[in-house]
Amino acid sequence: MSLHVEPILPQFGAYCSGLDLTRQLSADEVKQVTDAMDKWGVTVWCNTGMNDEQHVEFSRNFGYLERVPLREGGTYRLPFRELFDASNLNAEGEITQDEAAIQYRKGDRLWHTDSAFMTKRTSYSLLLAHSVPGEGGQTWFADTRTAYDDLPDHMKHFLEDKIGINSLWWSRKLAGADIPDEEIDARFKAEHPLVHTHAGSGRKALFIAAHTMDVKGMDKAEGRQLIQDLIAHCTQDKYIFSVSWNVGDMVIWDNLCSMHKGGEYDYANEKRDMRRTTVREGTEPRSLELDDPFTELFAATPKVVDINAARDSGR
Ligand SMILES: [Fe+2]
Repeated sequence: MSLHVEPILPQFGAYCSGLDLTRQLSADEVKQVTDAMDKWGVTVWCNTGMNDEQHVEFSRNFGYLERVPLREGGTYRLPFRELFDASNLNAEGEITQDEAAIQYRKGDRLWHTDSAFMTKRTSYSLLLAHSVPGEGGQTWFADTRTAYDDLPDHMKHFLEDKIGINSLWWSRKLAGADIPDEEIDARFKAEHPLVHTHAGSGRKALFIAAHTMDVKGMDKAEGRQLIQDLIAHCTQDKYIFSVSWNVGDMVIWDNLCSMHKGGEYDYANEKRDMRRTTVREGTEPRSLELDDPFTELFAATPKVVDINAARDSGR
């Protein structure tokens, strides 16, 4: 079978069809998918019919899959450690009432790139819809390559050697969590260049997110203003589109050339069950046992909002 591609914006995003993602793909078919990803950055696959196992298996074509953090005594709603739970549900599958979990998810509704707060970056995220709200809950995507291309030369020059400092807890604070600065300062931060060359296309891209707290070597206020300005630049109407989900739809996005954010919905009353696999940049397809940085990062007990609280809510 061969891939059919229907672009969404002139240089960014495409609806893809013609491949059955539930079965094992040939090397040529995998290449068709990666070629489409390299060109379009985000691909949307409607009504895939995939289950959890097929989701994980398909994702392994693109590298090592990160695993959700382990916690002593923790309970898990989903059957594989490779599936990150992006739902508003507790371990029993009911809408969570846990304030920490609700607060944690608010950070997902800011423009971000998955795992920017980790040293080892995420290339593809593959999100599959299992249940969707009647209204809202779409996902928005922004093109960080074309947005970079369109920056004035003096800004490109200025950004060339700049390093962003990224913190998960910074994005949670931006989303309204009450996290003291000292706590953020005490926690792990990851450094990544603000501009990099996207390996699959050779195009330069901005690498920024709500997690990007400071710019190394810059005055804090100036650095934070720069980050805000860059996010505002990338998320102008001409660089963004949204996907409205139906059950069974999968979207694959390349975090190394895009940003995304979740749309609002009635999360206190409507179930939204989304499950995500997360590919580590630069790893071989089907790598199985690498290190486990997410467990390391989340091992410290938080004072406030944390992914552990989010996952364990309702126990
Ligand atoms: Fe995300």
